[in-house]
Amino acid sequence: MDADPAARLRIESPDREICVRAENISKNFGGIRVLENVSFEIAKGEILGFLGPNGAGKTTTVRILTGFFPPSSGRVWIAEQDLARNPGRAKQRIGYLPESIGLYEDMRVEEFLKFSGAMKGLKSAARKEQVAQKIERCGLGDVRKRLIGRLSKGYRQRLGLAQALLGDPELLVLDEPTNGLDPKQIIEIRTLIRELGRERTVFLSTHILPEVSMVCDRVIIMSRGRLVASGTAEELEAGLKKAREILVTAGEPWRRDEAIGLLRSLPGLEDVRVVKEEPDQVSFSMTVPADKPDPRAEISRLFVEKGIALLEIRSARLSLEEIFMRILSSDDSAAGEAS
Ligand SMILES: Nc1ncnc2c1ncn2[C@@H]1O[C@H](COP(=O)(O)OP(=O)(O)OP(=O)(O)O)[C@@H](O)[C@H]1O
Ligand SMILES: [Mg+2]
Repeated sequence: MDADPAARLRIESPDREICVRAENISKNFGGIRVLENVSFEIAKGEILGFLGPNGAGKTTTVRILTGFFPPSSGRVWIAEQDLARNPGRAKQRIGYLPESIGLYEDMRVEEFLKFSGAMKGLKSAARKEQVAQKIERCGLGDVRKRLIGRLSKGYRQRLGLAQALLGDPELLVLDEPTNGLDPKQIIEIRTLIRELGRERTVFLSTHILPEVSMVCDRVIIMSRGRLVASGTAEELEAGLKKAREILVTAGEPWRRDEAIGLLRSLPGLEDVRVVKEEPDQVSFSMTVPADKPDPRAEISRLFVEKGIALLEIRSARLSLEEIFMRILSSDDSAAGEAS
């Protein structure tokens, strides 16, 4: 969709402080490359949505950012600390909520947080204060004495967030934080993340599209280990949403290749393809980016000129969901052509 998506991943305004910088990170597992030259920046205070389908490489990226394992190549800076050179200092800046949290089932909520605080090196007085503060912040007051094994999934996520917040890290890294929650819990957790994002930088990985438009300031989209698009939530909503899909139905299906050729010759039409073929008619779909004029008059003029019967021509707005699917499917078809 974007000629060079990486070009747009840089934070545009130079006066914004950068919290995370990932430069050309790649990762191989046993000879299989699952991340390919991924670069992005996150400004201080920004909530960045990291969107991609299952297997895209989100968790792998998260694990690299949090220092769980190193990239095969490339570099990462967290708040100006080089993660490879100063892992200890860089990791101190990060609060991490993993994809599946290994919580200690037979510990109590408050006890677990005290333990986690100790693991993070918080001294006794600071630890006590921090634990009380995070219990309050994450709405865990009612369950502070409860066994973790008896918590609902929503409360477990709150506890995971509270744990990540101990020590007030600058950066919060959340890997699919609403996975497996019921709709009410999802809303509560999203609201909490949004609030937490007012005070710090958040990296939120998710495969749920509405989540990024609800929670995030900016979104980067990943597919099969590569970044394929990026923009602010507003750009994706407002800009891309204005993209149109045009549906053209013509008679004389035996002239389909000629018709495709005509449509492809028009500037500004992308992704021209046959969507339906019947004995007496054929339908084509294509997209028109938001900044290009409505091509319908031009299409009908061309068809009339060539004497191809035009049965119908329609224009529809694309939803964000369709745009997301299209970005991913055009990425798939590009990969198909390459292999
Ligand atoms: N330790 C590993 N060894 C080998 N392959 C791995 C390993 N971890 C991840 N992969 C592979 O790397 C690719 C990306 O996986 P990753 O877990 O990063 O995706 P994801 O975007 O987090 O997906 P999901 O939405 O399902 O959590 C997948 O093909 C996965 O099978
Ligand atoms: Mg994952």
